Amino acid sequence: MSPKHLLSVRDLSSSQIKELVENAVVQGIPYCESLPQASAVAMIFMEPSTRTRTSFELAAKALGRRTVVLGSKESSLSKDETLWDTMLNLHAMGCELFILRSSADVDIEALRNFTVGPVINAGAGMLEHPTQALLDLATIWNQTAGRSWEAVKKQRWVMVGDLKRSRVAGSWSALAEMLGIELHFVSPPEWAPETLAPGQTWTDDLEKGIKGATGLISLRVQKERFAEGESWNPRELAAYIKHFQITAKHLNQGEGLWMMHPGPVNWGVELEACLLDYRKSLILEQVAHGMKVRSRLLFELLR
Ligand code: CP
Repeated sequence: MSPKHLLSVRDLSSSQIKELVENAVVQGIPYCESLPQASAVAMIFMEPSTRTRTSFELAAKALGRRTVVLGSKESSLSKDETLWDTMLNLHAMGCELFILRSSADVDIEALRNFTVGPVINAGAGMLEHPTQALLDLATIWNQTAGRSWEAVKKQRWVMVGDLKRSRVAGSWSALAEMLGIELHFVSPPEWAPETLAPGQTWTDDLEKGIKGATGLISLRVQKERFAEGESWNPRELAAYIKHFQITAKHLNQGEGLWMMHPGPVNWGVELEACLLDYRKSLILEQVAHGMKVRSRLLFELLR
């Protein structure tokens, strides 16, 4: 597996995705001595992050790489230096791979022309978060009996929440289409996805939308990405909770549905607070698979 960059899940073929997931889950963090002599990995995080930032940093260190973590406020990005110039300067100091997190929709197509080292999209605006979708997939594949892609294809996954602003939904929609995974969406009408891949459906009826589901992927209400002037008053919050909050009643059907969430969770908003210790929650499994998938991805891109 050797894509030049990972800016979208579509930068990988479906067989590369499966290979990455299988290697990550089965082998865990790669043994690092086969890598060429260490230089540094640059992590440009222009937006706060706990899971993505920490897992990439730990993964790079596990592979024997030094890391440079740069935020927008304390770097010359705050003086209007461009991202492109920032990466060139970091490369001149020995950085060989670039991991980017941005609250704005960065120009992914322009980044494809960056030739000095691989670039990984660690969450870009409302566009894509490819490594989140890949680690979610690893979590799902891992919990099937016998770790089976055929079993994954027989499942039905439903994504519920703030689809409009979700970069995870963007990556998941593409991933599900590529791998033939059944994926459906539930949200308020104003947060519906603009487009749907073939076979994917959307509804604003939570009860109807989750019928027959194997698991639910809950998404955070992303208030920090509300448009200027857009706000949420207590009445709107109460209405959202009433119609779209996932509760124990929704999950405890039949054998029980799997519960996933990319984090951070607004407990009591998109997920009922009592689900913190729900028996079929995969939320921390997702985080653990993040380490494995991201270290495998770095291993593949660095060698
Ligand atoms: N899921 C996710 O991207 O979490 P962080 O924002 O904490 O990295």
